[in-house]
Amino acid sequence: MKNFLNISDFTSKDLRKILDDAKIRKNKRSGLNKSSIDEDEPMKGKTLIMIFEKPSTRTRISFDLAVKQLGGSSITLNPDGIHYGKGDETLKDTAKVLSQYGDLIMIRTKSHSNLEEFAQHSEIPLINGLSELSHPCQVMSDIFTIEEKKGNIENKKIAWIGDGNNNMAYSLIEAATILNFELKFGCPNKYSPNKKILNWAKKNKAKIEIFKDPKKAVNLVDCVMTDKWVSMNDKVNKKLKKKDLKNYQVNKKLMSFAKEDSIFMHCLPVGRGEEVTDDVIDGKQSVVWAQAENRIHAQKSVIIWCLG
Ligand code: CP
Ligand code: NVA
Repeated sequence: MKNFLNISDFTSKDLRKILDDAKIRKNKRSGLNKSSIDEDEPMKGKTLIMIFEKPSTRTRISFDLAVKQLGGSSITLNPDGIHYGKGDETLKDTAKVLSQYGDLIMIRTKSHSNLEEFAQHSEIPLINGLSELSHPCQVMSDIFTIEEKKGNIENKKIAWIGDGNNNMAYSLIEAATILNFELKFGCPNKYSPNKKILNWAKKNKAKIEIFKDPKKAVNLVDCVMTDKWVSMNDKVNKKLKKKDLKNYQVNKKLMSFAKEDSIFMHCLPVGRGEEVTDDVIDGKQSVVWAQAENRIHAQKSVIIWCLG
């Protein structure tokens, strides 16, 4: 079964194929309406089932559009409206049942272990639409966007500022390790990526550095990225975490240490005035709207890869 759960499950060859196919397919659609169907209709007669245990705007709509453009259909299930591992039906049984109805499942979960359990029993491919440990679809589409703006990701320098210990940061570490780009964290010790993932990256010869001073992290990088200081389901003292991270805001001053033609990225939703100022996210270097659009194109390629 070809699941898409973590970037670290893939070789650079697999990731390169997904990225290159996304580019070809996006270019072929130039001039078409957003909901027009690709000529080859690779999902004709096929259905993606989506389950969201947490809120989503981009993932929900971009997957729906991705499937539409591929000629298939999608259905979104609310876990509170179905039997979903809450004592009345096990996740195993839900996975077996949904496998009879759909061709592919995407789950956004509060607990990565739900994805793993589902994957064990699903008879159709499973895509991770975000867990507390990874957000592989976002990171694949972000790399697609970086390549569109700056060329091949290999040896590029990317800075990640703020919370280094969340799903996006982990998936980015995995991507940097496999696709061979430099990743520089600017974060306080308390919010550095966890030891387990750093040791894995080190063992695999990743080019990752961690700086307490955010200016050192962004020094001459091609791209500056950040994310919400408090992620969904982050069980922390929010006020304290925001206070701890207040010197890690991406603002004009911090951006001035990056390359002059560097880009700013954020997966959204954004805490304006917290992790980034309005003048940066709305400024010339920001590519956040292209990032949101590219979720469609990268995910189309992930879907086709999963369907084999
Ligand atoms: N970036 C992202 O995954 O956005 P949503 O939470 O809106 O899906
Ligand atoms: N780290 C964020 C990403 C949102 C797309 C979160 O998990 O809330």
